[in-house]
This record gives sequence, structure tokens and C-alpha cells, in this order.
Amino acid sequence: PQKIIIDTDPGQDDAVAILLALASPEEIEVLGITCVAGNVPLDLTSKNARIVCELAGRPDIKVFAGCDRPLGRDLVTAEHVHGKSGLDGPDLPDPTMPLAEGHAVDFIIETLRAHPAGTVTLCPLGPLTNIATALQKAPDIAEKAAKIVLMGGGYFEGGNITSTAEFNIYVDPQAADIVFKSGIPIVVMPLDVTHKALVTKPRNDAFRALGTQVGTAVAQMTDFFERFDIEKYGSAGAPLHDPCVTAFLINPELFSGRHINVEIETQSELTMGMTVADWWRVTDRPANATFINDLDADGFFTLLTERLARL
Ligand code: BDR
Ligand code: CA
Repeated sequence: PQKIIIDTDPGQDDAVAILLALASPEEIEVLGITCVAGNVPLDLTSKNARIVCELAGRPDIKVFAGCDRPLGRDLVTAEHVHGKSGLDGPDLPDPTMPLAEGHAVDFIIETLRAHPAGTVTLCPLGPLTNIATALQKAPDIAEKAAKIVLMGGGYFEGGNITSTAEFNIYVDPQAADIVFKSGIPIVVMPLDVTHKALVTKPRNDAFRALGTQVGTAVAQMTDFFERFDIEKYGSAGAPLHDPCVTAFLINPELFSGRHINVEIETQSELTMGMTVADWWRVTDRPANATFINDLDADGFFTLLTERLARL
């Protein structure tokens, strides 16, 4: 299996991404989960990550708390999407497993250094503060990471927090800039693809029909999460942004995109956090990321439902 670190700010869609990874031990070995401030503040994201591990029956997973604010800006949160707890919808018990000792950033650095180069993949599902801080503190890890598969950005689809920026990149554009310039191979799951991974009514019914605690919780999470996108965008269901990352690790053939140059806007307040994607390759800036724009949605939901059934 591919060894991964999940860097996350749960979030209902983060939760589903984590569940999918933990349900797929043949393809994915989760070395640890590192939490960052994003959808809600750090105390809640690091609590929610443990709630999700316990829901999956995996209290043995190491969950670390990381950065509690972006590198150079005030924290922007998204309770309007995820609810006050960050994980509104299901009624899940408080975690009994403790946080792992140490800082998430140090765990990322130590783990990358302890493994042979090219064997550990980073999977950021929230603002990129922890990853950028690790790169600043220990530049040598850029050579060690196999790749980064992240959820963030949007190009043709526009933004979901400003007209041009997606939430994860907008919250910490400076961190995103560091990551996109790191030289580590990057696969990006922007809104262009995640807005095609929609939990329609039949797909939600399929989660519920699993008849398990996990199936019910995922149905309730996506029910809650859907409200926002339906009201705001008239979307046909909740977009499962972050699970695109873990699904890609299991079956990359479900996805397609282009290897292009992607730069992050860090100056203009108007377009702050925009992922400027050279989709048509009109510049000579070198390609630094595979920008995904399409997926086989039915294949994605079949995979997800089948894996969740295993928990
Ligand atoms: C991203 O922002 C968060 O609200 C979600 O968890 C996802 O990672 C989507 O823009
Ligand atoms: Ca997230």
C-alpha cells in the first residue's frame, strides 16, 4: 500500500475522505493524520479527526494538532458550510482517544525523513499551513515526499469563498504558494472536478442503505453539508471535495486532467488565493501540477459506497 499522511480540517467531506482511506488498507496505509485550522478552529478539527477515527474503529491512528492560524493572515473559517462543530449532521460521541504527542509539523518532517525518498505521499485536505511550515523548517523534505495529492483551487469553476478563490487556498495563499513552488510533484483536485462528485438523493440513499453506523453517519453528514451548496448554487447534491483525493490514490483512472503550470495569487486582494492555471499552456512557465478537471462520478460513488461498507 501507499504510505500517506492526511493533513486535514474536518469538515464532513474531510471525514468521508478519511473514512475512505481507512477502509482501503490494500491500497493505503495511513501513517498519521495531521490537523490544521480551516473549516473550524484547530481545537475542533483535531477533535473531529479523532471522532472520525473512532467511528472507523481505528483509535490506534495517530492524530496530531498542527498550526492554529495561516502564515500571514487571520484565520477565515467556514461554519456557514460545516456547522458550528465543523462536523454537524450526525450525533457522534466525543472522542476518548488522546491526541498524539508533538506538533503535526514535526511529525510530517520526521516521518518523511524516516522513510526512503519517494515512498510517502502527502494528502492535504485543508489550508496548506502545516505542509508549508514543514517545508520552511526542513527544506530537505521536498526531496523525500513521493508526491502531494491535494484538494484546493478552481479555475473554470471559479471560487467558493470569493469569486476567484477556493476556500483551502484562500485561507492561506502564502502557504499554498510555498507548496506549489516546492518542486514536489502535485496532483490538484480543484472545484472543477469536486463539483462533479455530487451526492444526489440515490447516492445518499445508498450510504444509508448500508445499515451500518458509518453508512448512517455519512448519509447524515452529506445531508447537512448539502444545504449550503443547494441554497447557494442550486447544486444537485453535496460536493464531496476531499474524498476525491483518497479516491485518486485508490483508482487514479477515475480521474483526468492536465499537467500544467499552476501559480497562486498572493498579492491582489481582489483575486487573493486564486489558482492561476495555465490550462491552455499559453505561457512558458514550467508545469508543476496535474490539474484534474473530470471524473467518472458513478465509478467514484460505487467505489466509495463499496469501501464504506467494509467499516
Ligand atoms: C474545501 O473547503 C472545505 O470547506 C472543504 O472541507 C474542502 O476541503 C472545499 O472548498
Ligand atoms: Ca477540508
